[in-house]
Amino acid sequence: MTRHAQMVIAGNWKMNGTQASLQELERMGEGRKSITGVNNLKMVICVPTTLLANASDIAVRAGMHTGGQDCHPAEAGAHTGDISAIMVKDSGAAYVILGHSERRADHHETDGLVRSKAEVAIAAGLIPIICVGETLAERKNGLAETVVEHQLIGSVPDAELSANVVIAYEPVWAIGTGEIPSISDIKEIHGSIRAWLVQHFGDAGHLVSILYGGSMKPSNAADILAVQDVNGGLIGGASLKSGDFLGIVSAAAEQIEV
Ligand code: PGA
Repeated sequence: MTRHAQMVIAGNWKMNGTQASLQELERMGEGRKSITGVNNLKMVICVPTTLLANASDIAVRAGMHTGGQDCHPAEAGAHTGDISAIMVKDSGAAYVILGHSERRADHHETDGLVRSKAEVAIAAGLIPIICVGETLAERKNGLAETVVEHQLIGSVPDAELSANVVIAYEPVWAIGTGEIPSISDIKEIHGSIRAWLVQHFGDAGHLVSILYGGSMKPSNAADILAVQDVNGGLIGGASLKSGDFLGIVSAAAEQIEV
């Protein structure tokens, strides 16, 4: 049997949600039971740190996973307000989003910092979801692939460390805007990310999941997830409501060749 990259549908709640929102997670856990083939994909919800421990209890019981949305590059120490990879793992998470464009913009995170965070995350036993993606100006200037390759070179840890990473391609201009790139643009950039991963990790690069992120919703998920080298999605707005998220999960389950 040929092995394929794992399909991963990951929700990113960003700075949304209180304990009451965990009901939505319960609904996702209930709803997934009626999706045929759901066990062939990984369902991940990246919640705010305040919800991580409670969310992990719910998720694990329901066959889902949780993730953090960031971690500090140090193992521990005097970093008021920060959270380490070990703490994220200790709260029950299996994944952590790193280098999201909102963190790159709001907190001036560089590729080098993202890479250091990814290294400590891997050492802590987490799977980093490393985000890359161009701005609208960069795309208009024909620089999308170059920018993304540059981010991969700078942000992805050495091959010796691990091939157990997930890459999320998230064009900055598509996040939360309702706009998405054309299917052929998605195909082209995911293909170039795959080529880079194979160059970096060797054959193991074929097994790295490459997620698309940016205004993915139930109505466009099937088309996007059918694209070669799209192995799932990183979903913001549409992951806040169980109905929307489950719609995307159903579309993903249908794409999987078993
Ligand atoms: P969106 O966000 O789905 O709301 O566009 C995606 C993301 O930023 O991860």
